[in-house]
Amino acid sequence: MSLLCGQKLIKNYYVSKGWWQKEEVQAVRGVDLDLGLELNHLSCNDRNNNIGLVGESGSGKSTLARLISRLEKPSRGSLHFRGKEISNLPEKELLFFRKRVQIIFQDAAASLNPRHSVEKILSEPVRNFYPEFSRSERREKIIEIMEQVGLSGKDYRCFPHEFSGGQKRRLAIARAVIVYPSLLICDEATSGLDVSLQGQLLNLFLELGEKFAMNYLLVSHDLPAVRYLCSRILVMYAGMIVEDFSAKEQHSPVHPYTRALLKSEPSLDSSFSPQFLPGEPPDPSAHPTGCSFHPRCFERRDICMEAIPELKETSERHRVACHLA
Ligand SMILES: Nc1ncnc2c1ncn2[C@@H]1O[C@H](COP(=O)(O)OP(=O)(O)OP(=O)(O)O)[C@@H](O)[C@H]1O
Ligand SMILES: [Mg+2]
Repeated sequence: MSLLCGQKLIKNYYVSKGWWQKEEVQAVRGVDLDLGLELNHLSCNDRNNNIGLVGESGSGKSTLARLISRLEKPSRGSLHFRGKEISNLPEKELLFFRKRVQIIFQDAAASLNPRHSVEKILSEPVRNFYPEFSRSERREKIIEIMEQVGLSGKDYRCFPHEFSGGQKRRLAIARAVIVYPSLLICDEATSGLDVSLQGQLLNLFLELGEKFAMNYLLVSHDLPAVRYLCSRILVMYAGMIVEDFSAKEQHSPVHPYTRALLKSEPSLDSSFSPQFLPGEPPDPSAHPTGCSFHPRCFERRDICMEAIPELKETSERHRVACHLA
């Protein structure tokens, strides 16, 4: 039984367009996703269970992350956590899930209340999940977790503004991992930082993953970061997963979109010049018929304009949604 499994997840938003009109935005369009983390993974944690989710801006990555962390309910589809359907459970019945699946965002620092001390910020999850802890036990746990994420335990009385950008990210990580989740969803958690800070955070992720037997779903634009941390990469385009492949097979993705993404990745090799994919992703309120990628695909055939390709297994641990695969 896998830890978290979504089936035919759909999320539509309705946005105002003029006085009386509403437009449907199809942000996630039927995603099947099995995070594949076995119940007994606690004994065999390594980066082999980390999954990356990549794709252009607007492809629906954050929406999918919000759905599978149950910050939002899917419009349709089911979400099972350890075999239990949770897509419609009210918040008060989700405590068991929140303890196991946590999420952090790019603007994690902004989510730290500037009027609360670190102790108060980190006390909240401890109070929610370990109500039996006394005040001194809570403080002990807070100091311990601060040190584990690379902050000084002595700073528990400080306020967020007294920390640097990188330290605020560590604080946000501490708030998420203080309950020892099995899965940490990181939505662009390292973007906007300089390269060395990004590297430090990725190493911290690896270290915490090993220490706490925790796996990641890393949502990112940064393919090298995803490859560094993850063993499996999911590629999203226009609200759908178009390819699911092993990070080790990095040169053999078959979907034309994944290949284009890899070719557009900058490299230190001076003989390699990145090739950017021409055209724009489709408007999420008016997806093209057939394969959403066909207007930008150089290899398209007639069928690509007519039928939506299914995500099918083409070889072991490799799924592709392309008529040509
Ligand atoms: N709350 C919302 N209301 C209306 N539309 C939304 C909402 N959230 C997301 N969308 C739309 O859904 C689509 C997917 O957005 P999403 O933020 O999931 O993309 P993304 O892949 O995370 O992009 P980025 O890489 O820029 O973060 C976009 O067209 C976006 O405008
Ligand atoms: Mg996003």
